[in-house]
Amino acid sequence: MESTIVEQQNLLSDRIQNMKESATLKMAALGRELKAKGANIISLSLGEPDFDTPQHVKDAAKKAIDDNYSHYTPVPGYMDLQEAICHKFKRDNNLDYTPAQIVTSTGAKQTLVNLMLCLINPGDEAILPAPYWVSYEAQILLAGGSVVGLPTSIETDFKATPEQLEAAITDKTRVFLFSSPCNPSGSVYTKAELEGLAEVLAKHEKITIVADEIYEHINFTDQHASIGTIESVKDRVVTVNGLSKGFAMTGWRLGYMGAPLWIAKACSKMQGQFTSATCSITQRAAIAALGDNLEPTYAMKESFLKRRALILEKLREIEGLEVNEPQGAFYVFPSAKSFVGKTTPDGQTLNSVDDLCMHILNTAHVSVVPGSAFGNENCFRISYASSEENLIEACSRMKACLGALK
Ligand SMILES: Cc1ncc(COP(=O)(O)O)c(C=O)c1O
Repeated sequence: MESTIVEQQNLLSDRIQNMKESATLKMAALGRELKAKGANIISLSLGEPDFDTPQHVKDAAKKAIDDNYSHYTPVPGYMDLQEAICHKFKRDNNLDYTPAQIVTSTGAKQTLVNLMLCLINPGDEAILPAPYWVSYEAQILLAGGSVVGLPTSIETDFKATPEQLEAAITDKTRVFLFSSPCNPSGSVYTKAELEGLAEVLAKHEKITIVADEIYEHINFTDQHASIGTIESVKDRVVTVNGLSKGFAMTGWRLGYMGAPLWIAKACSKMQGQFTSATCSITQRAAIAALGDNLEPTYAMKESFLKRRALILEKLREIEGLEVNEPQGAFYVFPSAKSFVGKTTPDGQTLNSVDDLCMHILNTAHVSVVPGSAFGNENCFRISYASSEENLIEACSRMKACLGALK
C-alpha cells in the first residue's frame, strides 16, 4: 500500500524536520512563483553580486579543463591553492597561516558547517551577535548546540559590545561567531571594537572565535580588520573567507579558512566523509582569483558604493522606515517596527515585520527578507546587489505600498 505524505514525513529524521528552511531562499522562491504567474517582481532578497566573474579567473578555469584537472584533489585543496590563500591572508589581512592550516570547501557555507560539526557537542552554546546570517543558526542547531544571540539595534549600528559578550559566556560556550562586514546589517567592526571583544575572549580558553570575513572586499571604510591579528586570541581564531562575494563567484563554490592546526585537521576529516573536496576546476580558478589582480573586485566595490548612496537616499524618503548607514557588504537593514499593527487597504492587520514583508511582496512585488530570519524582529533586509534602475523602481513601489498603510 502507498504511504500517505503525512506518514512519509514522519519517516524523516528529527534533524531535518526541525531544520528551518533558509528564509532568503524561501523569499526568492516565493518571488519566482509570483513571477511565473506574470507579476513583475523585483528581487532584493538574494545575497549575490549581479556581476560577472572576472575574465582572468574564467580563463584560468578554461585552461584547467584543457590541462585535465579532472581528478579528485587533496581534501583540503591543492597545495598551490593553500599557498595562494596563505599569500592572500598575509597580503590583505596580515595573518600568518601555513598551508597546513588552510582548508578549502564547497563554499564558505561548507567551511562553516564543517566547523560547527567539529567544535560543537550537543548541549554546547555558540554566541552570535544578532542579527546574524541565517545559516549560522541552522548549522549550530544541526550540531546539537544552541544559539545565544547578543541583541543589537539600529541605534548602535547593530554591533555587540564586550559587556554583552562577557555576560553571555557560560561554561558551555564553545564558539563565538560573527561576520564583519555583516550579513544582514552591513556593519563593520573596527580594530578597536575587535580589541574590546578580544579582551573578553582572551579570558576564556575554551572558546574558538570564528570570524567570517567573506564580505571583506566590500568594505567602504577601507579598513578591514581581522580579529586573528590580535595577539591575545590569535591562536584560537578561525578566519573564514570565500570567493562568492568579492569575486562574483557564487556558483563556483569555493570557501576557505585559516585555522589552528588541530581544527584544520578535524575539518579535513569531516569533509573527507562528506564532499571530499571542492571542484578541481574551481580550485585552479581560485588561484587566479586570489592573485594580485584585484581591479575587477575594486570596480565592483565602487558600484556597490554608488548603489548604497542611491538606496539610502530613496529609503530615507519613506516615512516610518528607520535607516542607518551600513559600512560594508551590499545590504541595508532598515527598522520597520513603526509599521507593525498597521492595516492594509484591504483591511488586514500586519502583526509583524514578517507580515509586512509578505505584504510588500504581494502588493509592491518587491522581495525582501524579514529580520526574524536573522534573529531581529524589527527589521528587514534589502540586498542592493541589483541595477540602479531596479533599486529606484523597488523603492518607489515600497514607498507607495508603505504609504498606503493606516
Ligand atoms: C555571512 C556569510 N557567510 C558565508 C556565506 C556563504 O557563502 P558561500 O557558501 O557562497 O561561499 C554567505 C552567503 O550568503 C554569507 O552571507
